[in-house]
Amino acid sequence: MRHLLSAADLDRTTAIQILDTAHELARLTERGVKKLPTLRGRTVVNLFFEDSTRTRISFEAAAKRLSADVINFSAKGSSVSKGESLKDTALTLEAMGADAVVIRHGSSGAPHVLAHSGWISSAVVNAGDGTHEHPTQALLDAFTLRQHLREGKGDLEGVEIAIVGDVLHSRVARSNVLLLHTLGAKVTLVAPPTLLPVGVETWPCDFSYDIDEALTNKDAVMMLRVQRERMNAAFFPSPQEYSRRYGLDRRRMNLLKPDGIVMHPGPMNRGLEISSEAADSEKSVIVEQVTNGVSVRMAVLYMALGGNEISGDAQ
Ligand code: CP
Repeated sequence: MRHLLSAADLDRTTAIQILDTAHELARLTERGVKKLPTLRGRTVVNLFFEDSTRTRISFEAAAKRLSADVINFSAKGSSVSKGESLKDTALTLEAMGADAVVIRHGSSGAPHVLAHSGWISSAVVNAGDGTHEHPTQALLDAFTLRQHLREGKGDLEGVEIAIVGDVLHSRVARSNVLLLHTLGAKVTLVAPPTLLPVGVETWPCDFSYDIDEALTNKDAVMMLRVQRERMNAAFFPSPQEYSRRYGLDRRRMNLLKPDGIVMHPGPMNRGLEISSEAADSEKSVIVEQVTNGVSVRMAVLYMALGGNEISGDAQ
């Protein structure tokens, strides 16, 4: 694997290889091995043009745990605010000898441009581009589902999951639909008609407007953040109405299978798409998703950079 730009880049074998590698890395971390020499001498640049908490921190932690040098670049406070282009920013990174560039950008397709422009020779990892894709989020979600529903092994054949909320603006939903389908899961998207994208019927999933029906006997529900910052029109009558029609509360959560799980990529709008009772419940694996993000991103960097063999030798 050279670049990771889209969940569609991953066939079932490669996806399982990443999940298995992440599983092994998580096991080493649990044994107290916090740092591996695998990427010693390599440089990872985190290039963030959009805000992030979880993704940026976990990529930094992942690279450091593999002993890579890490450069964190945030558009705020950089020469981007003086009008510097993506090309000139990329040429600067190339001059500094970046081996991998992890990019988050507000424009869909920016990571593809970076990977295929010839401006840089490094591996490119998409950390979220506009409303397009967020493949490492989908991988950590698949990892979390596998841990809870498949004892951390194999694919997700037969797993049934509902993804609920602002699908229209969600790169998380798109990447998850692609990856979960590749792994054999059955996905149902649930949203008001205004928050489903045109052409959703061509996606490899079902869709529904009825949350109660869609949640009944599912293995998992993934709630999506209502992305008000991307909304330039009224997509629902009021926050109260949205919460009543599409929010996850305890009653709805209990429609899942008895061992069903509640997921959310974060950041959450508590009281809008998810109640605090559901977010903090015994069914919630939201904090685990964040933990798993580090192991999964270690696996992605390891595979993109062709690191040395993983061994449990602590540094
Ligand atoms: N899930 C996610 O991408 O969170 P951040 O925006 O905090 O990185």
